[in-house]
Amino acid sequence: MRYSALLSGVSAAAVFAVVSLAGAAGPAQAPQSDKRVWMSEGSERDEALKLTPNMDKGREVYEVCSACHMPEGWGLTDGTFPQIAGQHRTVLIKQLEDIREGNRDNPTMYPFALPSEIGGAQSVADVTEYIAKLPMARENGVGKGDDLEHGKKLYADNCVRCHGADGAGDAAKYYPRIQGQHYNYLVRQYQWIKEGKRRNANPDMMEQIKNFTERDTLAVLDFVSRIKPPAELMAPEGWTNPDFK
Ligand code: HEC
Ligand code: HEC
Repeated sequence: MRYSALLSGVSAAAVFAVVSLAGAAGPAQAPQSDKRVWMSEGSERDEALKLTPNMDKGREVYEVCSACHMPEGWGLTDGTFPQIAGQHRTVLIKQLEDIREGNRDNPTMYPFALPSEIGGAQSVADVTEYIAKLPMARENGVGKGDDLEHGKKLYADNCVRCHGADGAGDAAKYYPRIQGQHYNYLVRQYQWIKEGKRRNANPDMMEQIKNFTERDTLAVLDFVSRIKPPAELMAPEGWTNPDFK
């Protein structure tokens, strides 16, 4: 089906044009703050979580997201854009609202995620339903593979209690699925969580990883990047998203 007949040819180019301008005289600059908030109070998140999602509307909203996260929601294997397909809907809602509300810095995406661009809580409910149901990539960016035994042990001792033995996370607790995610993205986010640059990070995770050396970090994330999502969540061989043809 074609949901994007009008836009499909131009959307990616238009988005990147705006992004490259955003440095100089950005249309919408994210608010600057040093405040760390893991779970914000009075957030639109709670409203979005309660609403009944509409898949058709979600697909329409996803048009703008597809320019960076790709029509399949798989991002890029170099980690510039994360895979978001198949992520828990609760996690998608929390992260999207954190970005919209300035609790997580994402200057590249910020102007495209605002209520004035995509709408309010209902749009968040809709688009996250669509993304959560997209099948995941069969291939993702991985690390060098030269320190995996060390990574495996660190993962078992430090990460399993929250992200699970298979990296599936926990939807009810907003613990993200990290299996199948691109290595470079994992490294970037993990460092930002460790350093406190990602202001919406979970304080217990920060505590857990505070003594990790660079070797530890790269080894554990290399191990994580090689955990495959379960077969039922993965796209069939050669799949492309028919909604954005
Ligand atoms: C201009 C490019 C761009 C557009 C358009 C865009 N994003 Fe993003 N998005 C990014 C980048 C870059 C990141 C990762 C930021 C980082 O590394 O800190 C990201 C991260 C995310 C995350 C967090 C993923 C995680 O694992 O925590 C979510 C959720 C997300 N985007 C959803 C969306 C949705 C929904 C839309 C459409 C309304 C959208 N994005 C549009 C660039 C974009
Ligand atoms: C106490 C629970 C907890 C522990 C322990 C923990 N994490 Fe996390 N992790 C989280 C939560 C919650 C988030 C999402 C934070 C947020 O809301 O922004 C997260 C986010 C992440 C992210 C960013 C994911 C994304 O999509 O942006 C990575 C990567 C990650 N964790 C890796 C690890 C690794 C590797 C370990 C072990 C060395 C670990 N975590 C230990 C709870 C935990």
